[in-house]
Amino acid sequence: MTNTTSPFPEGFLWGGATAANQIEGAYNQDGKGLSVQDVLPHGLRSPRTPAPTPDNLKLEAIDFYHHYAEDIALFAEMGFKVFRFSIAWSRIFPNGDDKEPNEAGLAFYDRVLDELEKHGIEALVTLSHYETPLHLADAYGGWTDRRLINLYERYARTLLERYGSRVKYWLTFNEINSLVHEPFMSAGIPETEQLTEQDLYQAMHHELVASARATRIAREVAPNAKIGCMIIAMPIYPLSPSPQDAAAVMDLDHSNLAFGDVHTRGAYPGYFLRAMKEKGIELNITDEDRKDLTNTVDFVSFSYYQSVAHTSDPAKLIRGEGNIMGGVPNPTLETSEWGWQIDPIGLRLVINQFWDRWQKPLFIVENGFGAKDQLVDVNGVKTVIDDYRIAYLNDHLVQVGEGIADGADVIGYTSWGCIDLVSATTAQLSKRYGYIYVDRNDDGTGSLERFKKKSFDWYAEVIRTNGATLQG
Ligand code: BG6
Repeated sequence: MTNTTSPFPEGFLWGGATAANQIEGAYNQDGKGLSVQDVLPHGLRSPRTPAPTPDNLKLEAIDFYHHYAEDIALFAEMGFKVFRFSIAWSRIFPNGDDKEPNEAGLAFYDRVLDELEKHGIEALVTLSHYETPLHLADAYGGWTDRRLINLYERYARTLLERYGSRVKYWLTFNEINSLVHEPFMSAGIPETEQLTEQDLYQAMHHELVASARATRIAREVAPNAKIGCMIIAMPIYPLSPSPQDAAAVMDLDHSNLAFGDVHTRGAYPGYFLRAMKEKGIELNITDEDRKDLTNTVDFVSFSYYQSVAHTSDPAKLIRGEGNIMGGVPNPTLETSEWGWQIDPIGLRLVINQFWDRWQKPLFIVENGFGAKDQLVDVNGVKTVIDDYRIAYLNDHLVQVGEGIADGADVIGYTSWGCIDLVSATTAQLSKRYGYIYVDRNDDGTGSLERFKKKSFDWYAEVIRTNGATLQG
């Protein structure tokens, strides 16, 4: 049934999301330094390489660096109100610890913003999306080193001063809770045998302080900017109705929610301090850190792809194939070709949980379906008949509407990979999310030509009708 009245409020920010390392390419042009992504040719499937290698698709990606005007024009054709992209830290500070920023890097994002403004599209900028400058990983040990707080502060200040009057929405760290699961990709932390949980949680603390400092700086230099945190949302279901499983779910949920709690409440919650104590971890937290943390965010953003199950029974604690958080497979759900469990209702659940818990505007900044696409010829026009993607997005958006009807203040939705890009976990191009097909293959061949998929027109219609055409 089609909605006749849409639950989506007027001014809802419809759009799409990307990250620099997954679209830009030009990995060493105009003064850009290396980032951790330039040495992860196979994503999380194999270890880093000492230097960039030709099999790394991210080095050229979809060459957004040279196609941005064409791509933004296509986003405008779909009616985007907002476009999420990240700024590559190593394009601005090539080594991360340089004294002065690289003007050519800054000028590139000026051009991107010019183009967005031309089409009336709002920018949503992620400061750090799995792109720590490689030098900070190699010479500092990534975010385990407290000095990164000041280096990030310099970077954040540079961006907020330069673009603060043009960019309203900012995210400090992409999926900040991924740090403890994927230390190198998420936080530039070398995954050596010496790495301890103490190191990881100290790094988490450094990022939380850095995030709060960015918020503080924004208040000073960009008063109209709205700062958000960004976390992986993952509803967790008990595998059985036993109280033991419910308690295990609560503990696992807490380990995620801690990141949002600190960002929205300005201090560590009791359950987190208890967990640290029980792990024998003593965090180095200064008085200045505590003060910094009180700079809480304006809104909470999150990615949502899937839910998981959890159990207290070690024999049943099997890790699913899903995204970087892992989790026990839920026998009631179907999965994508990459083993990610499909659960639209889970999105309504997290919207409600986050809204009830934090009472801050919510922004869904990632959601989407990675699938293999077949380029076909329809009446002489090349396209992809991606009904599977339309179904996934429709069903999730219907649940966003339910969450809004439940009373949550959801301000926007940017589907992930609005144009095909290189996957983060597997570094493939064949894992496609886009409304726009990009002719590039896993072996690096392809013309880079762009083609509209069936979902392109579908999403344009959803945006035009503010969600009224969704099929509930
Ligand atoms: C999120 C990341 O975890 O999931 C994105 O923020 C990533 O960078 C997205 O691309 C989808 O994951 P994947 O592995 O399919 O690219």
